Amino acid sequence: NSAQSHCPFHASNKRNEEATEFDMFGAEYQHCPASSLQSFREEKPIFFSEKMNYWVVTRYADIREIFRDPVVFSARNVLEKFTPDTPETAEILRSYNYGMNRTLVNEDEPIHMERRRELLDAFEADKLEGLRELTRTLVTQKVDEFIGLGKVDLMATLLWDIPVIVALKFLGVPDDDISVLQQYGVAHKVNTWGRPSPEEQQHVATNVGKFWHYSGDVLERMKRNTDGQSGWMYDMIRKNQTNPRVVTDNYLHSMMMAILVAAHETTATATANAIKHLLSKPKLWQKLHHQPELIPAAVEECLRYAGPIVSWRREATQNVQINGVNIAKGDKLFLVMAAANRDPEQFENPEELDILRDNASEHLSFGYGAHQCLGRNIGRLEMCAFIEELTRRIPDMTLSKQTFTATPNTSFHGPEALWVEWNPEAIKGTETA
Ligand code: HEM
Repeated sequence: NSAQSHCPFHASNKRNEEATEFDMFGAEYQHCPASSLQSFREEKPIFFSEKMNYWVVTRYADIREIFRDPVVFSARNVLEKFTPDTPETAEILRSYNYGMNRTLVNEDEPIHMERRRELLDAFEADKLEGLRELTRTLVTQKVDEFIGLGKVDLMATLLWDIPVIVALKFLGVPDDDISVLQQYGVAHKVNTWGRPSPEEQQHVATNVGKFWHYSGDVLERMKRNTDGQSGWMYDMIRKNQTNPRVVTDNYLHSMMMAILVAAHETTATATANAIKHLLSKPKLWQKLHHQPELIPAAVEECLRYAGPIVSWRREATQNVQINGVNIAKGDKLFLVMAAANRDPEQFENPEELDILRDNASEHLSFGYGAHQCLGRNIGRLEMCAFIEELTRRIPDMTLSKQTFTATPNTSFHGPEALWVEWNPEAIKGTETA
């Protein structure tokens, strides 16, 4: 056996078998996508998983190349379900007239760019200042509520709620049903990127159907009175009225549903991952307490090291070669940004969380090119506001001993709960000082 493990032929055969059988729902990938693919990135950076029917791409340069060409590599499969509908779930969705179709993220050129341009205004830097203030105020209020406790699950007390409130403010959508929306958002995630059991699938389909209904109702209410209203959904409603060819009714409805997931869970999980890793490195939290000006760079490095979206998809529209590998028209690609973000060809000492790294912002956690995340500066400003307030008020925060859990899925990665602790007595002194 040991002779076999040193034999290059045997090793390469084993690698081929592993490639063929690679499963994104396997324990290793689910635990840590980046390290589970490290040896593939080194030895077989693009490989075909027969089990999943996807090309898996792991190197930085290859993934960036693919993102850079939205014509050869279509985004049309980005929201395809990993677990197909059963006849029962298809029936449930039909009963809600479920009709989620194209949104910015899964449509092709030239219409994608035409729509993206129409919808860009709200994301300009000067329009986002109000969101920074809102995030700060909300974080301060929540921290006031729990600072005396000495131990909390940050996800439940802080990170799960605030990004959804900020997202709704940005969209101009009323925030009366936040917990219902959060529940629907999770259903949409499991429906698209998860592997639910047939029973779970029915529950998920029901919630997805309700989400579709709910989004339609809210839109109808919003459409009735657009005068003087602000928010990205109102911008879209106006475009729908003035330019229905570009912003169709279905587009508006689909966007309403997709954007809540795009804006909420991404930012909550990005922040949870960041806090978890910042607290895992000795003295880093205190350093940020004393030098808050380092926080934006720390946020960028955390997005590289542990971004909330670890993989994304594309489909080849023609036969093409990437890095010497032949990809046929119609083949599907699974791009693992988490592996690319730790590629030593791009990032020196990539396994090290280094907040002073000068090229951290080259990470691919927001995608790249034509579809690059439109909300990236909103995500960043929220992450900074969370970490600024927490390092400022609770400099002795530590990570509690805990086992992290997550809902199995291919693309969203982060803990469901994040327990941290501190000495409330010590805080009292500094807060009144
Ligand atoms: C697209 C990540 C927050 C809105 C994307 C994509 C990724 C991503 C990976 C796909 C990019 C591609 O295909 O090249 C993230 C992360 C976030 C975040 C990591 C938080 C840390 C937000 C927020 C919003 C938002 C807060 C809105 C308020 C969008 C939109 C697209 C998008 C509209 C589609 C853009 C297009 O296809 O033209 N995001 N996102 N995202 N994101 Fe984000």
